[in-house]
Parts: sequence; C-alpha cells; structure tokens
Amino acid sequence: MWDRLWINARLATMTAGSPYGAIEDGAIASLDGKFAWVGPQTGLPGAPADLAREVIDLAGRWVTPGLIDCHTHLVYGGNRAREFELRLEGASYEEIARAGGGIRNTVKATREASEAELLAGALPRLKSLLAEGVTTVEIKSGYGLNLETELKQLRVARSLGADLPVTISTTFLGAHALPPEFEGDSDGYIDAVCAMMPEVAESGLADVVDAFCENIGFSYEQTKRVFQAARDNGLPVKLHADQLSDLEGAKLAADFGALSADHLEYTSDSGARAMAAAGTVAVLLPGAFYFLRETKQPPLEAFREAGVPVAIATDSNPGSSPATSLLLMLNMACTLFRMTPEEALLGVTRHGAKALGLQNSRGTLEVGKAADLCVWEIESPAELAYRIGFNPLVTSVKDGRDLEMG
Ligand code: NIG
Ligand code: FE
Repeated sequence: MWDRLWINARLATMTAGSPYGAIEDGAIASLDGKFAWVGPQTGLPGAPADLAREVIDLAGRWVTPGLIDCHTHLVYGGNRAREFELRLEGASYEEIARAGGGIRNTVKATREASEAELLAGALPRLKSLLAEGVTTVEIKSGYGLNLETELKQLRVARSLGADLPVTISTTFLGAHALPPEFEGDSDGYIDAVCAMMPEVAESGLADVVDAFCENIGFSYEQTKRVFQAARDNGLPVKLHADQLSDLEGAKLAADFGALSADHLEYTSDSGARAMAAAGTVAVLLPGAFYFLRETKQPPLEAFREAGVPVAIATDSNPGSSPATSLLLMLNMACTLFRMTPEEALLGVTRHGAKALGLQNSRGTLEVGKAADLCVWEIESPAELAYRIGFNPLVTSVKDGRDLEMG
C-alpha cells in the first residue's frame, strides 16, 4: 500500500528520452517520502483506491520534479541598493569592489548581524523561492571571511532547512574576497582559509567548498591551494569560474573533479572539454549576467557539443543578483543565453541535482528518488520558461508531503 498516489497527471520526469521525459496520462506514487511508482496510468497494478491511502486526481495537470536552486548566497546582512545606484551613475562592479565596497560591504553587515537577524533576513528570500516550487537550495557562506562568521552563516543556512520543508546543501566559500584585515596579503588570507578547513570539515556544517577565482577574487594558484585543503579534508569542490575574465577556472575545477563550475562567461572551448571529461556541471547564472549587464556569452554551444550538463540557478546575492525567482531565471536562460525551455528546465532539475552531487536522490521523477514534485497549471512545460513574473504553481510536495510554509 502506497502513501499517496497522484493520477491523471502529465509527468515531465526529466529523465532521458522523449522531450521532458514526458509521460502523458501518467500516475506517480510515494511511500515513506520516496517515489514508489512512476509510469502510464494504464500500467497501475490495480484500482487507484486499492493502491494508496490517499489518491489525488490532478485532472491533467503537469508534474515536474521539485525545482533545485543549486547556487545561492541567501544568508547575508544588509543589502547593496546603494551600489545599484552607483552603478547606474557609471561605476562598474569591479571598480566598486576595488574601492573596498561590493562583497566587503556585505561582509561588514554580516559580521555585525546576530544569527537570529541573519535567519530573519534569509527566511523571506527562501520562502520566495519555495513559493515557486523550489524544494532544494544550495547556500554558500563567504560573507564572513573569518572562521567565526563563516560558521555563523553556515549554521544559519543549516537551520533554514530545519525551519522549512526544503533540502539545504551548504557550501564553505571562505575564499570569496579579501577581508580588510588581510589587505595587501592575499596569500596570507589563503593560508588562513586553508587553516580553517579542518574545523569547517569537522563541524559538519559544509557539504562542499567553493572559491572565487577571478581578478577581483583569487588567482589560479591560490584557488588550487584551497581545493587541495578541501581534498585533504574530504570535502568536494565547486568554483566561481571565468565570470569576468578567463583565469582557466573551468580547467582547474575539472582537474579537481569539481561538482560544478559556475558563471563561465569567459570559459574557453578547451575548458568546456575538460569539464565534460571530468563530469563537472556548468552552472549558468543569468541573473548575474543580466544585473551586471554583461555582454560576453557563456560558451553554450561548446557545452552542448562536449556533452557538459548545464544547470541554471539564481545566484541570489545582494551584489550581483538580488533575485529570488528561479522561474524568472528559466526565462532569462532562454532569452539571454538562447537555451531551450527543455534545457532550462533540466538545469533546475536533473542537472541542478548533479551540480550538488544529489543526482542519485533528487532531480527527476524516478522510483527510489525523494518524492519532491511540483504540480503546475500549465498547458506545456515550456510555459515555465515562457512566462515572466507569473507563478503557475498549484502545489509542491517535499519528501512526499504537501508544502506548508506557515
Ligand atoms: O556569484 N562572484 C562572486 N560572488 C557573487 C557575488 C557576490 C557579491 O557581489 O556579493 C556572485 O556573483
Ligand atoms: Fe555566486
């Protein structure tokens, strides 16, 4: 006997095969928070009422996997609306960063904030994502830049997952920017980040380690040292790579078998091939591309040719992408990067799961995976990417249970 059975569903399973892995006239069942049966309704082994304790008739509505936002900086203090104004007066993102603003502004506000304040700030942002069907979110630290504040951010990220029905994947981003107390000594700060690694690993608060490999961030060699320390402490890696210039971040990420390399506007074709060989996911962040008014396109064609899985995320953060709508990112991925709606949806389901190392448990509608799903009032899955500022979510289900946010 299953717990729940959804019938008269159109399933976008997002498995390989037909567009969207679609099954028209489908049915899907859950037991103990996992999918127990997925297929055409005619294949059900009996009458629905005999098969499950609860039967839900979806009257032909579409069902997708629960959405996955695989790159966010959701926990931070303050905001950077003032820098938005400065950029509109002509300053560039890089100029603001070099003048000591940018990430450092948020670091100051994050250090000053209590854990309760950080939590209260992040909750409405997370709720906004969940209201559009997101069931898994990655959250990075990186606005503390000392052990105490980095762990504070990670604790808040973890506790969000206890407060709301959502899976949180946490990432230690100590190498995000140079803190003021290390001005002029970026190698010294990288030493400090490497020295934090055993305690970060020991705390169990970080699932993955990330770094910002960029002219205004850290060099190839410095990033490599962070990755080596992560490896020595048994933590997988991912990387902010090639966003504003090509420092061969994609290649470095691939060399370390990174789960993902993210941004990637300046990645070369050889970088894309290295990622394909390593199984590293390309995470594209159209919100940051849009908000910083970038013009250099990520090498989507090279990713397609090399067979690199491409994910899409909000990059939700106060400086380069103050976005809390993953559906809007689907639209932007299509309009700005020329992805297809199917590629975009794969980017927030199957490929988003892989970017977090969760491909065996989430990201598709398949037996054995966690019962995370969304029910949509749409005529076709392409509508999820087509609309702008409209939310057609009817219900989302997390580990088999209907989402209730309170
Ligand atoms: O992903 N690139 C670095 N980190 C963030 C921006 C952080 C910020 O500006 O606060 C990003 O775009
Ligand atoms: Fe980011």
